[in-house]
Formats: sequence, C-alpha cells, structure tokens
Amino acid sequence: MNQDQLKEAVGRAAVEHVPRGCIVGVGTGSTVDRFIDALAADAGRVAAAVSSSERSTERLRAAGIRVLSANEVERLPVYIDGADEIDPRGCMIKGGGAALTREKIVADLAERFVCIADASKQVDRLGRFPLPVEVIPMASAQVARRLAALGGQPTLREGVVTDNGGHILDVRGLHIDDPLALEGEINQWPGVVTVGIFARHRAQLCLLGTSEGVKTLHF
Ligand code: A5P
Repeated sequence: MNQDQLKEAVGRAAVEHVPRGCIVGVGTGSTVDRFIDALAADAGRVAAAVSSSERSTERLRAAGIRVLSANEVERLPVYIDGADEIDPRGCMIKGGGAALTREKIVADLAERFVCIADASKQVDRLGRFPLPVEVIPMASAQVARRLAALGGQPTLREGVVTDNGGHILDVRGLHIDDPLALEGEINQWPGVVTVGIFARHRAQLCLLGTSEGVKTLHF
C-alpha cells in the first residue's frame, strides 16, 4: 500500500471509533480528509461535528455534515486527528498544517483523542519534525530568541497566517526528552498562542497505517 492508501485505510478505520449519532471532534490534514470522506460515506453516522480548521469545516459541510462551534458543546466523546509525529506514549507533534491551536481546543473538549497516522509518523523521540509554534505576530522575534536559547533553530513559516491571525515558527533541532515539561514551558511565554507539542492532550489510541494493515496502539 502506498501512503495515500494507508491514509485512506486509517480514515475508514477511525469511523468505527465514533459512536453512532454523536457529535464528533474533527482535526485537520490529509489523513483527516480521508476520515471525513469515510464519514460522508456512512450517512447519518454523526449528528454533527466540531471542526479544528476552516479547511475541515468546508470539507465537512460539502459532505452534508453539520458543523457546530466549540462554544456550542460542552463535551465530545471523541476527537479524531492526524499527527506529524507520535511517540511511544502517545505524545505528538502537530501543526504541520498550521491548525494546532484549534486542534488543541477541540482535543480539550474530547474524552478521547484517536490519532490516525501512517507508519512514517511513528518515532521513538519527538523532534525530528520541526516543532510548530503559533505566535502573536508582534512577538515572533522575541519568541524566536527564546526558542534559540533552548537550542532550537526557529524559522518563520513564510506567507502563512493561521485561522486565528497568528504566525507560525517552525523549530528545528530541539531534543524533546520531556514533552510535557517543554509544552508547559513554551506555552507560558508571552506571545505564544500554542506550541505544537500535544503531551497534555496526548492520544489514548492510535490507528497506524502499516504495510501489514491498520495497527491499533493503546497508550
Ligand atoms: C495540522 O495542523 C496538523 O496537526 C496535522 O494533524 C498534521 O500535520 C497531520 O497532517 P497529515 O495527515 O496531512 O499528515
């Protein structure tokens, strides 16, 4: 199976983890696009969705799925999203698609995070993928200096403005030995909107697309 077929397989498998008739949290990215396609093929599976990006909202609506704002729900049974990296404890790097802030907000509403990814996303330690950090534009240089002081090499993602009007710094060269601690530290700097480490909101389950089929990892 090629990478597209793996994404399709995990997108389809994720539908089984969505209770019939529920409101589902929906992430962002090419793997989630396949999940939305699979939801669309199972008409009436969900009552509605809470989306983590304009991109996913558009796709959900095109599939005839009602989209609610995060302010309209108190709890979601499940949040389905991809990842840029996932470690052996279910901690992830996310934000390759610049949707990390809304992804963390919707993940926070959910009882479980089900990650859907192809096997290329599985790592022993986070940090090979450049860590995205969403910042308030006026603080980008200031935050970049602090990231450099931690040993990272931050670069501004050219031409990208997030759904929230933020900018993205992509940080290479960080050795993320303690994702929880680093998430907490970076998140408290003035000007940081969200860091793309998902340790507090790590996955409880990962549906991993491999050449031997979809593997289910529990964390
Ligand atoms: C979006 O901001 C990211 O967090 C995505 O979840 C991540 O980039 C995975 O995307 P793909 O499914 O396209 O690899």
